Amino acid sequence: MRQFSEETLTEAVLARLTNVDNPRFKQIMTSLVKHLHGFAREVQLTEEEWFEGIKFLTAVGQKCDGKRQEFILLSDVLGLSMMVVAMNHRTAPGATEATVLGPFFAHGAPEFEYGGDFTKKATMTGEPTWVTGRVLSVDGKPIPGATLDIWQAKADGIYDIQDPDAEFELRGRVKTNAEGRYAFKSYKPKFYSVPDDGPVGDLLRATGDHKMRPAHMHAIVSAPGYQQVITHVFVEGDPYLDADAVFAVKDSLVGKYHKIDSPEEAKKLGMPCPFLRLDWDFRLAPAGGSKARATIAASDAVA
Ligand code: BEZ
Ligand code: FE
Repeated sequence: MRQFSEETLTEAVLARLTNVDNPRFKQIMTSLVKHLHGFAREVQLTEEEWFEGIKFLTAVGQKCDGKRQEFILLSDVLGLSMMVVAMNHRTAPGATEATVLGPFFAHGAPEFEYGGDFTKKATMTGEPTWVTGRVLSVDGKPIPGATLDIWQAKADGIYDIQDPDAEFELRGRVKTNAEGRYAFKSYKPKFYSVPDDGPVGDLLRATGDHKMRPAHMHAIVSAPGYQQVITHVFVEGDPYLDADAVFAVKDSLVGKYHKIDSPEEAKKLGMPCPFLRLDWDFRLAPAGGSKARATIAASDAVA
């Protein structure tokens, strides 16, 4: 066939998919072609605009490396990441809600004992915080041996993996003890800007959207026999809770940092006085209800 027109082109492209064996791939490609063509028609895309789009996507790709994932960031600020999380991880009743993974997860964070100090290699200080709680099943049973993979930004809003000279910092893995309890020392998270020195930053500026994320700590919590959850704990009172650049805030994920001004308590926990304390329980649904979620690090995409 030849001589395609604006009216016949979409059908012609779809006809080329007739022999695709994998039905899911065929479904996705069919829908993608229909929506791409529909989008171009709806906005009457000019050649200059089409080329701007090509240049933008090229720049997004060029910004990616083993530590920077500009495509995940693009997906995050367009709300696509949260849409995919929402569709694939409908929270089981009583379980901790899932939210975005973000671009700063890294495999192989150091392991700490109960009460371990995530600030050991910190290059910046913050407000010392004792973070503790339990990992529970949805019916309230403590889960011993659950793993928590935790990460958060430094006080300047930069993650350790964004800094070429930094070692793992404010990042670690801890396990729950026989009572299902975990604890570690860290700093209170602060709000920060998503990376805006690349094409996604240009996009945010062009759309007049802001780029802030409310303060949060990231957690991936897993235990044999339970569904893993990828989630955050946000900080009560943060000014950006209602304006997260990546649409990830859930009411159920906002925690209170209490000030503890007791020298005895500080001494018992090995904390300075005063210090902050976050008590936070995670609740896991039994395995089987939801697909396992991919924990993709920037390094996986270029491997
Ligand atoms: C983060 O929380 O680390 C994050 C999530 C999405 C985009 C940028 C940063
Ligand atoms: Fe973050």
